Parts: sequence; C-alpha cells; structure tokens
Amino acid sequence: MEKEKFYITTPIYYPSDKLHIGHTYCTVATDAIARYKRLHGFDVMFLTGTDEHGQKIETKAKEADVSPKEFVDRIVEGPRGVKDLWKLMNISNDRFIRTTDDYHVKSTQYIFRKMYENGDIYKGAYKGKYCTPCESFWTESQLKDGCCPDCGRPVTDAEEEAYFFRLSKYADRIRTLLEDTDFLQPRSRVNEMVKNFIEPGLEDLCVSRTSFTWGIPVDFDPGHVVYVWVDALSNYITALGYGNDRYDDYEKWWPGVNIVGKEIVRFHSIIWPAMLMSLGEPLPKQVYGHGWLLLDGGKMSKSKGNVVDPYLLAERYGTDALRFFLLRSFPFGQDGNFSNELLIQCINTDLANDLGNLLSRTTAMVEKYFGGQLPAEQDADGLDEELITLATALRDRYEVQMEKFQMQNGLEEIFKVVSRANKYIDETAPWILAKDEAKKPRLARVMYNLLETLRICAVLLLPFTPDSCTEIFSQIGASGEETNWDSAGKWGVLPADTRVHKGENIFPRIDVEKELQELDAVQEAARKASQPALELEPQLAEKVDFDTFCKSDFRVVKVKSCEAVKKSDKLLKFILDDGTGTDRQILSGIHKFYEPEELVGKTLVAIVNLPPRKMMGQESNGMLISAVHTEKGEEKLNLLMVDDAIPAGAKLC
Ligand code: ME8
Ligand code: MG
Repeated sequence: MEKEKFYITTPIYYPSDKLHIGHTYCTVATDAIARYKRLHGFDVMFLTGTDEHGQKIETKAKEADVSPKEFVDRIVEGPRGVKDLWKLMNISNDRFIRTTDDYHVKSTQYIFRKMYENGDIYKGAYKGKYCTPCESFWTESQLKDGCCPDCGRPVTDAEEEAYFFRLSKYADRIRTLLEDTDFLQPRSRVNEMVKNFIEPGLEDLCVSRTSFTWGIPVDFDPGHVVYVWVDALSNYITALGYGNDRYDDYEKWWPGVNIVGKEIVRFHSIIWPAMLMSLGEPLPKQVYGHGWLLLDGGKMSKSKGNVVDPYLLAERYGTDALRFFLLRSFPFGQDGNFSNELLIQCINTDLANDLGNLLSRTTAMVEKYFGGQLPAEQDADGLDEELITLATALRDRYEVQMEKFQMQNGLEEIFKVVSRANKYIDETAPWILAKDEAKKPRLARVMYNLLETLRICAVLLLPFTPDSCTEIFSQIGASGEETNWDSAGKWGVLPADTRVHKGENIFPRIDVEKELQELDAVQEAARKASQPALELEPQLAEKVDFDTFCKSDFRVVKVKSCEAVKKSDKLLKFILDDGTGTDRQILSGIHKFYEPEELVGKTLVAIVNLPPRKMMGQESNGMLISAVHTEKGEEKLNLLMVDDAIPAGAKLC
C-alpha cells in the first residue's frame, strides 16, 4: 500500500544575523512534527531554508562591507551558521532552500510573470511607509506612534514606481477561507486577521521595488526587483520544482502545512493564498501560527541585544535536552517566557529525575538481581493492571495531541506514564522481593513491566529526543520492530527473557544554583563578544559619483533651543536657525553624549534635504553631523562644531 504523504515547512529565516533560540524553537517543533509523521508511517517531505534577498540584507552587507551574497553565504554556510545549527540540533529536513539558488530565482520570475499575465499584477506608483526589519509596507494610518505596528521600529518613506498585486480582488475568498475553513490554526488567530486586515479593506499590494537592487529582477522589467515576500513565500512550491526542473515532485507533495511564527501569519494567511489563487494552484492545507518565546516578557531580538544563543545551550546541556525543553515547556500556539531557570529545572525534573531515574533504576536492578537477563518464568499480579493499561493506551492519547501540534500535551501524556512507573517501583518494592528466592518470578515480572513501559515511552519520545531514545533502546535491549509505531500501541512486545545493558546515565542532574550563576556569566560574556565591533579595521565606504554627492545639502545651523524628548532616554529635540528665516526642527539620538543646555547657541552642521522622519511622534527634518568612533570598545560621539563667526545657512561644499 502506498504511504500517505505529508509535506511540512518552517519559515525561511533571514540570514541577516546568527539565528537565535526563537528560530531554533520553530525549527525543532517542525522537526518533531515531521519525525512524528514519519514514525506514524507517513511519507514525509520536510523543508526549511533561508530568505536571502531584500533591503535588510542589502543594508547589513553594506555595513559589513561585503557583497550581499558573500554576507549571506557566511551566515548560511559558514562555521556556526544556519546549516551548522540545524545539524547540531539534529534537524531532519529533507531539503534546504536558499532563495538565491538559481532554480528558485527562475521560478520566482515565472510566478511573477504568470500573475502578471493573468491580469493580477499591474504597474503603478507606490507612496507610503516601509519597515525594513519586517520588509513590510504600511500606510500612514496603520502606523503606531509613527512606527511599524508589528515591530515598533521606525519606518522609512518609500516612493517609487512599482508593480501592484490585485490583493483586493481576493478579499472575499480569503475571508471565507479564514472564517469558514480550518485553514488557519490555532483558531484564535483568525479573528485578528479578519479584524485588522480584512475588515478595514484589503488594498492591492506593492510587489516590486526599484530603490535597491538585492532581489530577483522582474524579467520583463529589469529595473524592478520582486518584493521579497513574494520571492520568499514562493519557496514552498519552488523547492518542489514548481516552475523549474531542479525538482519534479510538486504534484507529489503540494499542498502542505506551513508552520510560521505569529508575526508573519498575515503574510501566510492572506498574501500567500491570494498568490496561489492567482496562479490557480491548491492552497496550503494549513497555516499554523505558533507563539513567541519571550525574554523578560518581551520578544527577543538582536537589536535589543536580548537573544539567547542556541549553540551555547545545546553544547552545554546536549541537543536532546534543549529540544525537549523547548517543546515541553511552552504551548506551541501561545507565547512563553524563556528563562535559564526554567530550562535547568525542566532538565532536572523530567529528564534527570523522572525518565533518567526510571531507566537507571530499572537497568541497575535487572543487572543486580538477574545478571542483566530476565528469566522467562514470571508472575503477573493484579497490581500491574493500572500501569499496563495506562502505558498501552498512551499511544492513542499522544496521537490526539500530536495531530493538533500540541507537543507539550503529547509530552505531558508520556510523563504521566513515566511518573506512574516510578510509583510502581515504590509500590512493588523490588528490593524486598529480591530477598526471597521464591519471589524471583514476581520480581522478574516487575522488571519486565518497567522495561515495557520504558520501551513504549521511548518510541513516542523519538520525535523529541531521537539520540537519547536510541540509547534507551540499546540499554533496555529493544530493536527493530520493537521500536516502531505499531509496537508502541502494544504491550508485551519485548521477549520475556530480554537482556539489558546498563549504560551511562543519559540525563545527569544539574546543581541549579551553581549552574545558574555559571550560565549567566557565560551568556553575558558571549553576548559581549558578539557585539558588532564598530572598531573593525577602518574601512572606507563604497564610492559614490560626484553628482550624487552634490545632491546632499549640508548647511551650517545655530542651535536656538535644545531639550530632551519626553519618554525617550536618547532623543534631543533641536530648534535650529538654518538661515532660511524659518525654524528647523531636528531630532537626534545623542542624549547619551550631551546635555541639552550645553548645546544652546552652538554652531553645528546638518544635512537639510533628507525626507522628514517621525520619531516618538515628532517630526525631524534633517540630521546633525557628528564624528563617531570607538575607544576601548566604548562608543564616542562629537557633534561637528564650527566657528561661531560662520553665519547660519552657509553651505558646505
Ligand atoms: O520573518 N519566538 O524571517 P525571520 C518564537 N524571512 N519564534 C521566533 C522568535 C521568537 N522569539 N523569533 C523568531 C522572516 N522566531 C521571513 C520569513 S517565510 C516565507 C519568510 C521564528 O528570520 C518564528 O517562526 O524574521 C518567526 O516567524 C520566524 O522565526 C521569523 O524569522
Ligand atoms: Mg522577523
């Protein structure tokens, strides 16, 4: 019989920085689902990858003074890069797509052209706001305090010729899809989408950019690059060979399940299905929007400097312990608070005390009382029934949870059985049975029941802690068909006279207090070491042509007043005389370096022809020029001050 098929994906992450524990969480969760499905007998395709185009990457590469491709190559393929991380985390993806791969580029051009030919893409002009970290377009009215409503960071003006996608045309179909089907999970996300995006009216989406070049060129209009989200979303089908001949199993696998974080549910549950509708292709079976890992109640982000490094944790506690912790501690559909304490406690409680102990006690007793091999002559007892019933029905209860991607609940079911088995040891008191030669058959049965319980639990733990499960199998003497899905629903699979091999303690207990202190110190040191060193070798910027340079209007300005902006610890608000007779307001994030009083009356230099920008709800028209450098790792800043005899408005050239 042909196996049922299952296709699952993670988001493709931006290689704009090293990935952190949040990305690891999503990939480990998706990996556990993929492994569960394989265990359950499905034919699985599991895809992950990297989203390598766009303005954010282009800017990052510029800062690092390398080409965008060199920049992403380093982060994706380099030491401790994305691929290394997934290897370390034991991720079982079948494919890895990079959006700079030739076949993907070609397919994305094909997809864009096809939507254009279908009449769903037209040329126009875009005027609005752009959030570069999120790579998303916003209208003025969507902004929150002048910033990106998703991430809270400042947005920039974007005004350019652009192609638009007729998203509005699909509004009704998307609404039906969201409200009347199980497409978007968990259901709690549906309301949010309908209220925030569908009800205010879906506008056509800008799908090309001309103000930078790091993207996939629109092949029939090469001044344009495809909007990075159209490029990125396409990955789920281009990686199967849609529009290219690198792969040819699109029909086999699509549609699949897209696992994504809640902040990008909008792209996946509105734009992505609309693209597929335009292409006339099947919609994803499901989009699942998982919650965030928070640190001190806020989302981790590199710019806040509060990210947790998965490398450090996996190397310190082991890949399986970290994988287990991530899925055991947080409900997948909701946010959860990460902490070192929670991590160590989780390892100690479930892995060391409960599971590790059950294994080491059981194998130690079988060695001690039976020299490692149970006698076939055994005595059952009514006392065994409860454990046997619970363990035999475990697989079905676990399956219900796993099918809903409720890994935390699936693990909860397993650990109820583990606890019950530990209690069973206390109830049966094997050390007392062992004192009486006549009770040996009874003792053997108790051991057998413990081994069977361990076997079932280990099979169902395979998606979570694969290497440790292999070790458990080897210690309890289970192999081949004794470790598959079928066998996890049955009792009495191991032969009665099974042989055990006591081994290493798989999950040693950690001294919480001591370890917490050490871990904090190690993480702090690692964070410091990974701060972008501003003081790399002095590098000069890329050349600009003279005309471009001349467009920048630098003027001498005099400070009429200066005050700190309320609720901001960085911003100073300047009112300046720029020689035009009209006051100019500029906001500058330099409070760390100057007190406002000391700047009044000073003669400074500003660039005055930048587009206005809102910060903390106030408009800034230009930028003051400073000299910046670092000294012993500390950032230094000096406003450029010129002779007070120079009049306001004098032009710098
Ligand atoms: O959005 N907690 O990439 P990205 C939980 N390239 N999950 C987190 C997390 C956190 N604190 N931080 C990140 C992009 N994630 C696009 C995706 S897909 C066609 C394009 C996970 O590098 C979560 O799954 O910003 C989130 O959606 C994803 O990383 C975003 O990664
Ligand atoms: Mg993001």
